[in-house]
Amino acid sequence: MKNFRIKINGPSALRGSVSVSGSKNAALPELAATILSRFPVVLEGVPDIEDIRAMINALQKLGSSVKSEKNRVELSLNEVTTPVVSSDISKTSRASILILGPLLARNGYAKVALPGGCDIGDRRINYHLDGLKKMGAEIDLESDPGYIIASASKLNGVDYLFPGKTVTGTENLMMAAAAAEGETILKNCATEPEISDLAIFLNSMGAEISGIGTEVIKISGKKDFHSTTHSVIPDRIEAGTYLIASCFEGNDLKVENCNPAHLKSLTDILEKAGFLFSIGEKSIFVLKRGSEADIHVDTEPFPGFPTDLQAQLTTLLTQITGKSTIRENIFNNRFRHVIELNKMGADIEISGNKSIINGKTALNGSYVRTTDLRASASLVLAGLVAKGETVIENSFQLFRGYEKIDEKLNSVGAEIVIMRS
Ligand code: EPU
Repeated sequence: MKNFRIKINGPSALRGSVSVSGSKNAALPELAATILSRFPVVLEGVPDIEDIRAMINALQKLGSSVKSEKNRVELSLNEVTTPVVSSDISKTSRASILILGPLLARNGYAKVALPGGCDIGDRRINYHLDGLKKMGAEIDLESDPGYIIASASKLNGVDYLFPGKTVTGTENLMMAAAAAEGETILKNCATEPEISDLAIFLNSMGAEISGIGTEVIKISGKKDFHSTTHSVIPDRIEAGTYLIASCFEGNDLKVENCNPAHLKSLTDILEKAGFLFSIGEKSIFVLKRGSEADIHVDTEPFPGFPTDLQAQLTTLLTQITGKSTIRENIFNNRFRHVIELNKMGADIEISGNKSIINGKTALNGSYVRTTDLRASASLVLAGLVAKGETVIENSFQLFRGYEKIDEKLNSVGAEIVIMRS
C-alpha cells in the first residue's frame, strides 16, 4: 500500500466555504448496480477517491467498459467476461462484496474474494449470504478458501427479515432481488440515505422498488434494465466532517452542496452543547459556538448518530469544556484514534465501548499514525487546531474517502502538505 504522510501546520483559522463531493457510500453500490444493465449507464458526482477507483477496477476486470471524465463515469457491461473479484481488490476495498448480489443475479455465477480483515472491528457478511441462499443461491466457501463462490440457475423473490441492521447487506439483497423472479420483501432494512439513493437509481434503470427509506422494502424482480443517468447524493460524512471543522473556535466556514437533513443527528447533538446553526436548502454554517459540553452520544444506524462521524466528533469534544461520552455500538474496534489524540494532549479514557472525553485540552502538533479512514479525518481535525507541526503517518487511508481534502482545506486557510514516499 502506498505510504502517504500528511504534514499539517497548525493552528489554522478556516474561513470561506467548502463544497461537498458525491457520496462514497452511495456511489460504491451504484457502481456495482450497473452490472445489472447491458446498456450504458452514467453516474454523475462520483467522487475521485481510492475506494471508488478500486471498485471501477473490479468492474473493468469483470468486463465493463468504463469512460470517466472528472466526476462523471459511464459504464457498460455488454458481457460478463470474468465473473471474479480477486483478493487483491477485496483487500483494498471491502465494498467489493457489493458486487456479489448483482453479479450473481446477472450471471448465475459469481466468485468474490472474502473482504479482508478490517481496522474498525468485525464486519460480518452472514446476512448477505443467508439472504442470497434464501433466494435460491448455493454458496460455497470451501472449494477455494478465501473466496465466496455463489451460483444459482435463477434467483427467486423472497421474504427476508434481516436479523440486524446492515447497510451493504440491504444494498446487496436489494440489487439481487431487483433482477430475481417474483416479489421480494426485505424487512428490518437499514434506512441510510445511501440505500435510498441506490433504490432511486435502480428504479431509474427499470427496477420496481417501493418502501424506499423505510425498514420494509418491496422489490418486483425484472428481467431487463436500461440506460440511465443518475446524480449521486452529497456525502453526508464528508459534510459532517467539514461541519465539525467549522465548529472549532476561530473558524468561520460554510459547508456547501450538502443535504442538511442528512446531518440532523449531528446538529441535534451539537445544539445540546450550545451550538446554533444556520441551515439552508443545501448549505449549513455555525451561527453561535457552544462553549460547554456534557453530552452523551450513542452511535446508531440512521437516523441515529453515525459511527462514521464518531472519531471526528471526539476531536471536537476535546476542545469544549466539560465531560462527554460516546458509546460506539456499531463496530467493536473503532477507538484507535484515541491513543493518537491523547499523544497530542487530549484527555480521553476508554471504558469498554465507551470513550470519556475530558475537555478542554490544548493540543500540540505531534507525530501520529492513522489506522482507518475516519480516524484519519479526526487526526486531520486535531492537526488543524494543534499548535505546531502534526505529521500523520499512513494517511493514504484518508484519500480512500475524502476527495481532494488537502486542496479543499488549504483553500480556506489550512496548511496541509502531502508527502508521498
Ligand atoms: N453485520 C453482521 N452481519 C452482516 C452484516 C453486518 O453481523 O451480514 C454487523 C457488522 O459486523 C457491524 C454491523 O452489523 O457490526 C453494521 O455493519 P454494516 O453491514 O451496516 O456495515 P457495512 O455495510 O459493512 C457500511 C459503510 C461503513 C459504515 C457502516 C455503518 C459502505 C461501503 N460502508 O458498512 O462505512 O461505517 O455501513 O454505517 O457503505 C466508512 O465509510 O468509513 C465506513 C466504514
